[in-house]
Amino acid sequence: MRLQKYMSLCGIGSRRKSEEFIKQSRVSVNGRIVTKMGVKVDPHKDEVYFDGRVIELDNKKYYILLNKPKGIVTSVKDQFNRKTVIDVIDWEGPRIYPVGRLDYNTEGLIILTNDGELTNKLTHPKYGVEKEYFCIARGRIQTSDIHKLRNGVDIGNYKTSPAKVVFVRYNKENSELCITISEGKNRQVRRMFDAIGYPILYLRRERMGDLKINDLVPGGWRFLYDKEIKALKEL
Ligand code: URA
Repeated sequence: MRLQKYMSLCGIGSRRKSEEFIKQSRVSVNGRIVTKMGVKVDPHKDEVYFDGRVIELDNKKYYILLNKPKGIVTSVKDQFNRKTVIDVIDWEGPRIYPVGRLDYNTEGLIILTNDGELTNKLTHPKYGVEKEYFCIARGRIQTSDIHKLRNGVDIGNYKTSPAKVVFVRYNKENSELCITISEGKNRQVRRMFDAIGYPILYLRRERMGDLKINDLVPGGWRFLYDKEIKALKEL
């Protein structure tokens, strides 16, 4: 990343202020004073000094809300070189990680953070954080099948806990519903609908705890507001 960006992430000052410090010959990279713009640094390898003192990324916590588009992997790196959530936000700051997972073809709310404690709270089954999904399933779902989802279904050696299910409408030969679960088994919503014979055609996570995706478009992201971070920590 650019030297002035790195300096500002280390808490030295704004990027513009950092550029001034560079011009004033107060910054060195790997023992060499830098005065020109355009120098890039690798925070994991390069040693940057400001006024003779080494600078490091401060332990600031970052909280990002992303509307994950379809066709993106929820990981930091992918063994098949597919695009990841980190690529989508074009992040160059300190390492952050997705909280939980969304399938490759699922859209919607995903939090990215370097706050391990919050990640644990949001993903550990004992806290039972609610996750709400909008889905389109193939076929006209029967009321009796909606009850099956509400009561819990067998998804292969596991019976799901009761889910909240709201029927939205039939759209031609498909059904649109909202489903809220408090567990996080792998591909759980898809497996629940498979189990009752209505395969999912489209899936989007709309809410986690009190946090909603609202009007963020797929691929759009923003930092969480302080009050949203506080609410998640208090769940
Ligand atoms: N359930 C699924 O089936 N897929 C997801 O991505 C999330 C929940």
